[in-house]
Parts: sequence; C-alpha cells; structure tokens
Amino acid sequence: MRNVWIAIAALVLIAPMSQGQESPGLGWPASDSDVAAVDFTIMPDGEGLPDGSGNPTDGAALYTQYCLACHGDGGTGGANDVLVGGHGSLVTDAPVKTIGSYWPYATTLFDYIRRAMPYQSPGILLDDQVYALTAYLLFLNDVIDENTVLDARSLLAVEMPNRDNFDWAYSPGN
Ligand code: HEC
Repeated sequence: MRNVWIAIAALVLIAPMSQGQESPGLGWPASDSDVAAVDFTIMPDGEGLPDGSGNPTDGAALYTQYCLACHGDGGTGGANDVLVGGHGSLVTDAPVKTIGSYWPYATTLFDYIRRAMPYQSPGILLDDQVYALTAYLLFLNDVIDENTVLDARSLLAVEMPNRDNFDWAYSPGN
C-alpha cells in the first residue's frame, strides 16, 4: 500500500511537468520600462550617479516632510533606524550603527535612499531631492559642512569615517 501512495505522489508531482508547462504561470513578463524603473544601481566608485545636486538646507525641509516620522528629529532615533551619531561606538559594548558610524561609502547611501526610502513609497523622490537628503544626513553626521553642495562629483569625493575599518573579502576587479 505504501508503494502505491508513493507512486501516486510521484504522478502528482510529475504530471504538470509532462504537460509541457515551463513555469507556474504566475506574474507577467517584465517590460523594458519595468526593468528600467529598478535598474539604477550606483556603485561605490560613483558609477551610475545621476545629474542633479542638493544641499543640506533643502535636505532638512525634505527630511521633515518625508523622513522625520520614522527616523526622528535630526535622525537620532524614532520608530525606525537611528541614522545619526554613534561615532566610535562600534568598538564598544553598545555599538550604534548609523550612516556616520558604519557606512563605508556616501555613493551607496544615495542609492539606498533613492531605491528604498521613504519606506512606504520608495521611488517618489527626484534626484535633486535625494542629493539634498543625502547632504543633510551627511551634514548631521559631521561628514560634510552645512554649505556643501552634493552632486555626482562632490558626493564621490566624500570619505566616510568608517571606510577603512572594512575588510573586503571581494573587490570588483580582483
Ligand atoms: C514609514 C517609515 C519610514 C520612513 C517614512 C522613512 N524610513 Fe528610512 N527606514 C525605515 C525602515 C523600517 C528602515 C530599515 C529598513 C531595513 O532594514 O530593511 C529604514 C532604513 C533607512 C536607512 C538605512 C539605515 C542604515 O544604516 O541601515 C536610511 C539611510 C534611511 N532609512 C533613510 C530615510 C530617508 C532619507 C527617509 C526620507 C526620505 C526615510 N528613510 C523615510 C523606515 C522609514
């Protein structure tokens, strides 16, 4: 009897394949514009950074509008991740991972904000707005001063405080 059940189970599993189906028939083929909407990775070396620019002052206003509710006043803590502070804390018993204490590259911060934030509606920010928000958060973390205008060139020149503490197992080009 047990063998019969195994045979039936095998038939149930194999049957759909034998009907020539190549997929479970879910979803739809991605169009070129579907792909283009998410195909904008910015690399650590700045490859992929768009035109545009922004400064910390404009970023502060945008932060209040789009980010404050979850990340708190000045990025120091709200319902979600702390974005500011924690400098030097990674070697202590109470590490606080933030943009300033942890992130190795400023370029990928731009990528992350453009791709993933605001959490409930990613993709709504214009490139100038993302530059401004990146500038504001780097200013709050004492990485740039309040008058620095970020664009593709100046963002690439930003050196993050924790950059040299990463040990890369893989680096592109090796
Ligand atoms: C509705 C809540 C919400 C809003 C609004 C929001 N965020 Fe976030 N944010 C999150 C959550 C949740 C995470 C953690 C996501 C994860 O780990 O996958 C996060 C993570 C981040 C991180 C990564 C932190 C780290 O060090 O890993 C950054 C940077 C960030 N948000 C920036 C922003 C900016 C800039 C805005 C405004 C444009 C914004 N967020 C708006 C909820 C929010």
